[in-house]
Amino acid sequence: MRVLVTGGAGFIGSNLVWSLVGAGHEVHVVDDLSTGSLENLHPAANMRTLDVTDSRFIDAVREIAPEVIVHLAAQTSVPVSVREPERDWRINVGGTRAVARAAKACGARKLLSASSAAVYGEPAEIPLRETAQKRPTNPYGSSKLEAERVLAEELRGSGVDFASLRFSNVYGPRQDWRGEGGVVALFSAAMTSGRPPVVLGTGAQTRDFIYVGDVVGAILAALESPVLLAGEGDDGPAYNISTGTETSIDMLVAHLRAATRYGGPVEHGPEREGDIARSALDPSKAREVFGWEARVPLETGLAMTVKWFGRGA
Ligand SMILES: NC(=O)c1ccc[n+]([C@@H]2O[C@H](COP(=O)([O-])OP(=O)(O)OC[C@H]3O[C@@H](n4cnc5c(N)ncnc54)[C@H](O)[C@@H]3O)[C@@H](O)[C@H]2O)c1
Repeated sequence: MRVLVTGGAGFIGSNLVWSLVGAGHEVHVVDDLSTGSLENLHPAANMRTLDVTDSRFIDAVREIAPEVIVHLAAQTSVPVSVREPERDWRINVGGTRAVARAAKACGARKLLSASSAAVYGEPAEIPLRETAQKRPTNPYGSSKLEAERVLAEELRGSGVDFASLRFSNVYGPRQDWRGEGGVVALFSAAMTSGRPPVVLGTGAQTRDFIYVGDVVGAILAALESPVLLAGEGDDGPAYNISTGTETSIDMLVAHLRAATRYGGPVEHGPEREGDIARSALDPSKAREVFGWEARVPLETGLAMTVKWFGRGA
């Protein structure tokens, strides 16, 4: 299969590209390297350094002529979205529209687009189903929600099968711990080098942590599924890609202590503005429609992550 992965030099994208190449697919990557890195990229992937919002993007996609597209390129930092909401909107909403139009123009069969738990905001129910109320608490969540709507607007009735995959908190090898990396990456990088993790807020707040290998598995299962549109809701088909399990930050630290053998102190800082208290996403729709469910227990995923972060130690 000829696959185009936007954002393929990033954390989730590079893990996906390694799996796709390993399975014998022809893989093309479009990435502007704003947060991604060439070091992440499988050498067999065909790389084009290009912004998906650039007017040359559509010609590049016509040339590649992919059968399927996985759109992961995005402005992914919540603090950046708060500081520069227009930029966040341009990349996340405008970029998704550009990718959807390119999918139509090149006659792609399917387009999967990365969405996020951030579309829900403060949960009205736990675990959250796809139909739950959506009240994003930051511009990043708003842009991801609008991107889902734009995807449906562009592709409904076009013959391109499509879906938005709402990832919960993804962790694993190749996640960038600098800048706005996820909490697992931050803590793993700190604790494997003997530095204290800094817990913001009480530590009782919960998240739904999912291993990147499981997210890659979900993307592969969705690519193979004959029709994703069958699961269509108001905004087009959306699927939670998650474990459905809540883990507190304090519990995460305890697991990481065991995995890293870090015995030092834990530091505390003020809660981040806009942080939600609890999060867990119900993954049963993905299981029902394309037969996927998360397999990697948190302890196992953390052990693999810690091994990767400790590789230079
Ligand atoms: N990591 C998570 O926990 C998580 C959770 C929910 C949703 N997501 C979504 O999954 C996707 C991948 O996230 P990630 O964690 O791998 O982030 P990442 O920052 O590692 O990857 C994003 C990639 O997109 C590239 N990129 C950014 N803007 C671009 C543009 N305009 N044109 C071309 N390339 C561009 C970056 O260089 C980077 O390689 C994103 O859409 C993100 O919103 C991630």
